[in-house]
Amino acid sequence: MTDSVKYLLDESRIPRHWYNIVADLPAPPPLVLHPGTLKPVGPDDLAPLFPMSLIGQEVSAEREIEIPGPVRDIYRQWRVTPLYRARRLEKALQTPARIYYKYEGVSPAGSHKPNTAVAQAFYNREAGVKRITTETGAGQWGSSLAFAGAVFGIEVQVFMVKVSYQQKPYRRALMETYGAQCIASPSIETEYGRSVLARSPDSNGSLGIAISEAVEIAASRDDTKYALGSVLNHVLLHQTVVGLEAMEQLEIADDYPDVIVGCTGGGSNFAGIAFPFLGSQLRGGRSVRIVAVEPAACPSLTRGRYAYDFGDTGHMTPLTKMHTLGSAFMPPGFHAGGLRYHGMAPLVSHVKQLGLIEARAYHQLQCFEAGVLFARQEGIVPAPEANHAVKGAIDEAERCREEGVSRAILFNLCGHGHFDMQAYTDYFAGKLTDNVYDERELAMALSGLPSVPEPA
Ligand SMILES: Cc1ncc(COP(=O)(O)O)c(C=O)c1O
Repeated sequence: MTDSVKYLLDESRIPRHWYNIVADLPAPPPLVLHPGTLKPVGPDDLAPLFPMSLIGQEVSAEREIEIPGPVRDIYRQWRVTPLYRARRLEKALQTPARIYYKYEGVSPAGSHKPNTAVAQAFYNREAGVKRITTETGAGQWGSSLAFAGAVFGIEVQVFMVKVSYQQKPYRRALMETYGAQCIASPSIETEYGRSVLARSPDSNGSLGIAISEAVEIAASRDDTKYALGSVLNHVLLHQTVVGLEAMEQLEIADDYPDVIVGCTGGGSNFAGIAFPFLGSQLRGGRSVRIVAVEPAACPSLTRGRYAYDFGDTGHMTPLTKMHTLGSAFMPPGFHAGGLRYHGMAPLVSHVKQLGLIEARAYHQLQCFEAGVLFARQEGIVPAPEANHAVKGAIDEAERCREEGVSRAILFNLCGHGHFDMQAYTDYFAGKLTDNVYDERELAMALSGLPSVPEPA
């Protein structure tokens, strides 16, 4: 074992394939259904929204999918991202644990999101698409797609959840710097946005609403497609570069994780780091505990129901089986905007249902406390979303100390918090609170789930 702090790889080692966990699952994931017919959706149903190449990846069961040369070329701007050993944090915690983190904050937008934004923009350009609409919660995804649009010459329109739009003016400025248009959602640009504003003029917005707005535009305009920054199979697939690189970097460190931790909003950064290791386990390799960490204010995996639901509030998307709080669930305006989604990626939900991963929820105050401790030791200020993973990793490391056991803990530091300093300012000023739900509130949100008969 070395005493390095950073494990770096040359850009020639950027993976040549993404890893598709569907190939190794003990049971196939449930089918995606058309909300009108309740029959499985086919490629033609999705064609108004996505190019065929991405639809192909969405339903693929091939283990490896080649990363196109032009995508690898753009990845070279920031990949291979560093794997750090958190030696200073370990010391501060007085833990025998070996803590590693993969740092995705070195990307142009400051998070893991460009890994899929670049790929999606590339496939859209190949299909001759000139314009893409999307939504963004924290602003990380919107800025990533804006960057990718600039790279491949595609116009990008972003519906940004209103509370984040107000909390993070510099994210909007970043999107505009890359040449995208950024609109606060709910907006008057779409029929659905106008209907929400008529009912609730002061709506904070939600990812579910912003998705409906972006989908409405893509579905109604021939020149426009839609892109999603998480949840879908092809998005999780593109994020596996993170875990694949980490595997090789850990080989240099002569180590292997006992525990992997990732935060979960829609599930993509978590899947990105965890699925390559889980796949290896499923093929007979070493087993690893995998922990998904979510906000207690939006607890889809830990308190949601595993059921068919819509991906958006306006019910324009197909039905997917996932852990959900109900598409009408309106999370409060807590500061991890990227984790405020009512559902969870169907693939992450499926592996949770199969008992292959664990899930845990934390309140925002304890996550900020963990993030500040991390920043003071490691120097990097994590995004509020990433603080959930930091907190999860610290808890695991403290358990090692209590048990007197040295385990290797790997987590995904999925983004930096440089655009989120208002959140830290509010935290230091004592302005942040924790949201607690009783079962009745959650049951109410779930009462509107679509009724889908179980297959015979
Ligand atoms: C920094 C960061 N982490 C995590 C997330 C959550 O998304 P996912 O679960 O797809 O990784 C977001 C989403 O915007 C984000 O910006």
